[in-house]
Amino acid sequence: MAQEYRKVAVAGATGRVGRPLVEVLKTRGYEVVPMSRASGVDVTTGEGLANALSGVDCIIDTSSSPSPEQRPATEFFVAAARNLHAAGKQAGVRRLVVISIIGIDRFTGGYNAAKVTHEKAVLAGPIPVRILRAAQFHELVGQFVEWGRRGELSYIPRMRTQLVAATTVAEALADLATGPWASSGSSRPPFPEIAGPRAENLVDMAKLLVDRRRDPVRIEGVSNAADPDHGLYESGALLPGPGATLAGPTFEQWLASGS
Ligand SMILES: NC(=O)c1ccc[n+]([C@@H]2O[C@H](COP(=O)([O-])OP(=O)(O)OC[C@H]3O[C@@H](n4cnc5c(N)ncnc54)[C@H](OP(=O)(O)O)[C@@H]3O)[C@@H](O)[C@H]2O)c1
Repeated sequence: MAQEYRKVAVAGATGRVGRPLVEVLKTRGYEVVPMSRASGVDVTTGEGLANALSGVDCIIDTSSSPSPEQRPATEFFVAAARNLHAAGKQAGVRRLVVISIIGIDRFTGGYNAAKVTHEKAVLAGPIPVRILRAAQFHELVGQFVEWGRRGELSYIPRMRTQLVAATTVAEALADLATGPWASSGSSRPPFPEIAGPRAENLVDMAKLLVDRRRDPVRIEGVSNAADPDHGLYESGALLPGPGATLAGPTFEQWLASGS
């Protein structure tokens, strides 16, 4: 354990990646402060932050907007960035690590555009920041099936994605938060990336998931022509770059493990 970053606060501690992150950090011997509204901490209003951050060396922000729509999501992330920097600075926090999404720079709308604004807001604050960009989580496929469910069909967007397990992302976040940080001006990638072992089609993975879970719903791939970004999802804009860290399990292995 790197002693200098002994106490780590996790914002979004009950989420898909926040929950395994808390476990990874505890297993590695860190003192962890889980933060979410369930534990009385609201990153958008600042409620509970000052108390929660007392004595904290490093914050890892994995919180997410309850709404995926661009405007509320942007408001959520900008407020969270501002409050985590302000309360963190006050408490003497020395590092802030934030999770973002691979490939979002070219997107013009929706949740991905909100995340671009999030990254800018986070980088503008006083605490030194690192941003880890991740691919879509294995755990998100089931969420897509529910979002798209209409009776006996579920409409899944056509998307190329290099799905990764949330636990794998949690390990990478913990490594980044507690490992050495090269000084700026070095050759480190501005946004390190973590993704799964291979590119997949979301529609095919949703079919595997419902088969495995014996869910009778029929999966139907769709393109949303009204979304100016739909071509980006389909052409692979969300796939990792050549410098990305790629780590298993694959989606099929993850499913077979009973997840
Ligand atoms: N899911 C993916 O495939 C994926 C891929 C790449 C990057 N990411 C990024 O990873 C992050 C986490 O995504 P996720 O899918 O793990 O999210 P999630 O499962 O929706 O979890 C969101 C977390 O944020 C907390 N939260 C919501 N509103 C809050 C508030 N006002 N104050 C404090 N905490 C609040 C929630 O807990 P409470 O409800 O208890 O507050 C929960 O712990 C996001 O920034 C997302 O953009 C996700």
